[in-house]
Amino acid sequence: MKVLVIGSGGREHALVWKLGQSPRVSKVFCAPGNGGICEEAECVPANLKHLDSLVAVANLVQPDLTVVGPEVPLASGLVDEFTSRGWRIFGPTKSAARLESSKSFAKQFLQRHHIPTAHYAICNSLDEVRQALPHFHTPIIVKADGLAAGKGVVMANSKDEAVSACAEMLAGKMVGEAGARVVLEECLRGDELSFLVFSDGERVAPLVAAQDHKRVGDDDTGPNTGGMGAYSTADLVDDQMRDWLVNHIARPVVAGMKAEGAEYKGVLYCGLMMTARGPMVLEFNCRFGDPETQAILTRMDSDLVEAIEASIEGRTSEGDFRWSSHASVCVVLASGGYPGTFDSGKKIIGLEDAGRLPDVKVFHAGTSKRDGAFYTSGGRVVGVTASAPDLDSAIASAYQAASLIGFEGLHYRKDIARRALRK
Ligand code: AMP
Ligand code: GLY
Repeated sequence: MKVLVIGSGGREHALVWKLGQSPRVSKVFCAPGNGGICEEAECVPANLKHLDSLVAVANLVQPDLTVVGPEVPLASGLVDEFTSRGWRIFGPTKSAARLESSKSFAKQFLQRHHIPTAHYAICNSLDEVRQALPHFHTPIIVKADGLAAGKGVVMANSKDEAVSACAEMLAGKMVGEAGARVVLEECLRGDELSFLVFSDGERVAPLVAAQDHKRVGDDDTGPNTGGMGAYSTADLVDDQMRDWLVNHIARPVVAGMKAEGAEYKGVLYCGLMMTARGPMVLEFNCRFGDPETQAILTRMDSDLVEAIEASIEGRTSEGDFRWSSHASVCVVLASGGYPGTFDSGKKIIGLEDAGRLPDVKVFHAGTSKRDGAFYTSGGRVVGVTASAPDLDSAIASAYQAASLIGFEGLHYRKDIARRALRK
């Protein structure tokens, strides 16, 4: 079968790589893809913000299955559009994708269904913010309601700071329309966990858990990013905890969405904080995580196409996945200045040498290829991903591979997965 992957990041490179391994797949297309993806799939130009552009791509390549990476096309109804034309596509509808595209919807949904999450208030104006603030202790988490590409969350250390952040968001200065409504949240403490499940609208099948590293600097310092690295190990979540997360979070979400008439099919990303009060939901994403997918798919021994088809055809089961017991680590190499402004067009060296190391795969994100050489074209440039029987060895080989890659301004965290080792 022909498969089309939508997107252009490291997550999409990992999807292209894994889907391409399926004996069922004869050809993989990617729209628009990136420099590295174009080595493994046929890339087709596309504008991810315009559904028409993606419909035109599908008309051109006639895929038997489409897999969507980023949230923007899902939130604007790509699945509804393709399904109405009788095309097979993996992901939630626009209505189901509200779990990610509206934080106020997600918070109220969690409350309606008694799923653990931080205390919150939804505010449409500064007056409402001022009325809500006495009910919160500092620090206070301020979130834009809509999609903000990871830039819509501020941790305010004082109530004045919270008011200023809300004022900027509500005025459209920080993240545009996405900030027209804000959500205030109690600040939760603990380790974050990315817990992803496949769902067919009714049943769920968990993937192995992963941990992201959101802050740009070592020891979780500096501003938030899209994710600077991730790891996954067999003991990150034990069987008992996995069952708890399925029974108390993932299944109630899927059942709740069905009961509310917005059946959730696709991959559901539960962003959790493991607090002293137990696991609590920080956020949902209606898609695979980036860079968690690079770490998770590296451990997947089963056929990803089969699990996707099971979701589309309404027969998801825990048996859809088999996993390697190995640990995996993904270290993101980023452009100088990221997550702020950064230059592009820097020549990248050492990619081939890094990729030749055993059990190492370099997933491309912001790269483009010109005259046989790769150049930087985004904030997160590549995700160097290694697997090994134990976490220590996986960390060592990911960093060995990372040290072989160079470009002007390159920076990366030196402590990906280190906290797991200290535990
Ligand atoms: P979100 O987009 O909602 O996932 O938020 C992005 C990041 O902000 C999360 O991954 C956390 O690191 C942090 N965050 C969000 N909500 C909270 C919260 N209630 N308490 C503490 N940290 C949070
Ligand atoms: N790594 C976080 C995300 O994909 O949203």
